Amino acid sequence: MAKPVLIVTRRLPPTVERRIEKNYRALLNPDDVQFGSESLLRVASSADGILCTTTERIDRTLIDRLPNRLRIIATFSVGYDHIEVAAAQRRGITVTNTPDVLTEATADVALLCLLGASRRAYEGNRLVRERTWGRWSAVDFLGVGLQGKTLGILGLGRIGRATARRAVACGLSVIYHNRTPVAEASTIPAEYVARLDAFLARAQFLSLHVPATPATRHFLNAANLAKLPKGAIVVNTARGALVNDEALIAALKSGQVAAVGLDVYEGEPAVNPGYLELANTFLLPHLGSATIETRDAMGHRAVDNIDAFFAGRTPGDIVAA
Ligand code: DGY
Repeated sequence: MAKPVLIVTRRLPPTVERRIEKNYRALLNPDDVQFGSESLLRVASSADGILCTTTERIDRTLIDRLPNRLRIIATFSVGYDHIEVAAAQRRGITVTNTPDVLTEATADVALLCLLGASRRAYEGNRLVRERTWGRWSAVDFLGVGLQGKTLGILGLGRIGRATARRAVACGLSVIYHNRTPVAEASTIPAEYVARLDAFLARAQFLSLHVPATPATRHFLNAANLAKLPKGAIVVNTARGALVNDEALIAALKSGQVAAVGLDVYEGEPAVNPGYLELANTFLLPHLGSATIETRDAMGHRAVDNIDAFFAGRTPGDIVAA
């Protein structure tokens, strides 16, 4: 049987690309050029599947123009807000993602953002690099201690739970807000707070772990920021669209929010310049899952799903609209 034709939209770890080349007629992207909709449609016109990442927007317009032979879109990511899953389902196209394998790496970066923001890592790092560090001081660069404080986790899914466990080890108490309580919470331990207002009012630290959907877009707006305790620390390693940047920048300027640690941005790689002008911002370029081990595991998980699909089995990670 002829090997299926697979479009791989971005450069992937070498072991993953070698595996793909062995099993598929693969169109790899060695120069890692960015596909726009039209160029993706052009290469997809004779393809059976697409292995994409979060940098391609696979919306309804594009999905409606895909050839009938294209049966699977596998994303190299746990998040799939860049794909209009309902449109794919309407066309009978299977969509898969890569959960689990990036949980610990992403939670590590959530903790890094939390510490980077609370301990003023950007300011300290800048001082050393600019060679303007005069001498040690007992009163400069004072951050906010973690011990005995409360971290609010919005969304106690896999990454939320892994972040909560790290936070407890650092001496934080954890509360969480979800639509419904989570069974595993008691083992962390994390306390369920059903009312959003009550949850926000207690969150001296706030870490976002919900997917970007129309319902969660700009969750962190001026009204919700005002409900946080004054001087809260905010962390976002989930999706930039959860945050209204103008509102968060205003809160950082007023002191309502003492500092932020951000790994994701609405419209990334563009970053709202307001964040760049402030010293109380610890900013990373969406590298939550960026470890050698995790990126390998994500690639193999994506290919496991594609292999299962073309072997006539049900892929392990089918996402639903
Ligand atoms: C994901 O997997 O969704 C991460 O954001 C990495 O892209």
